[in-house]
Amino acid sequence: MNKKGFIFDLDGVIVDTAKYHFLAWKKLAQGLGIDFTEEENEQLKGVSRVRSLEKILSWGNKTISDDQFNRLMAEKNEDYLRYIDKMDESELLPMVKETLQFLKDSQQGISLGSASKNARHILDKVNVNSFFSAIVDGNDVSRAKPDPEVFLIAAKLLDIEPNQCIVFEDSVAGVQAANTAGMTSIGIGSEDVLHEAHYIFKDFTQISQSFITDLINN
Ligand code: BG6
Ligand code: MG
Repeated sequence: MNKKGFIFDLDGVIVDTAKYHFLAWKKLAQGLGIDFTEEENEQLKGVSRVRSLEKILSWGNKTISDDQFNRLMAEKNEDYLRYIDKMDESELLPMVKETLQFLKDSQQGISLGSASKNARHILDKVNVNSFFSAIVDGNDVSRAKPDPEVFLIAAKLLDIEPNQCIVFEDSVAGVQAANTAGMTSIGIGSEDVLHEAHYIFKDFTQISQSFITDLINN
C-alpha cells in the first residue's frame, strides 16, 4: 500500500478550540476598546499568538509597549487555558477519531501541524496523542502560517515528500501554507472562506473512507 503523509491542523480541525481562541481574543480586545467582526476573526485563525495580537491592535489603530504586549499575550493565554482545562474527549470534532484510526490501520504517516504552543497539552486532554508519529507545533517553528515551515517540518519528520502529503486545515492561512508547501490541501469549513483549498468539506462526517483511500492510492 502507498504511504502518504496526513498532516492535521489542531484548532478547528481536531477540536473546536477556535471558539475559545475567539472568546479570549474578543475579551482582550474589548478591554482595549477594540471590536472585531467574525469576518476579521477568520484572519486570526491559524496565525500565531504574536501575529494575532498585532492584527487586533492594527484594527484598533493602537500601539502599546513591548511589556504591555507580552502581558496581554500572557493574559489571553491564561484566559484561553481556563477553557482548555475543562476539555475532555467529548470535545473531539465528529469523525476525527475514526479518521485517525482508519489512517493508522492503513499504515499512513500521521502528523500534527499546528501554530499553537498549547497543542501537546490539548492532544493529551482529548486523548489522541498516540495516533501521531510526529507533532509539530508553535514551539517548533520560527515562521507563522501562511509560511509553509510547519508543514515542511512535519513532512521531514514523517520522512515523506511534501507532494505526497495531505493537509487538513480550517484556516485561510493554513490552506495557503499547505499549497505553498506543494501539498494537497483539504479545507474543513465553509467554501466561502476556504476556496483556495484543493478540496473542501464541512467537517469529517462528509469525508468518506473511499475518498481517503483514493488520496492514499493516487
Ligand atoms: C492556531 C489557532 O492553531 O494557534 C490560532 O488557529 C492561535 O487562533 C494559534 O492564535 C496560536 O495558538 P496558542 O495556543 O499558542 O496561542
Ligand atoms: Mg486551525
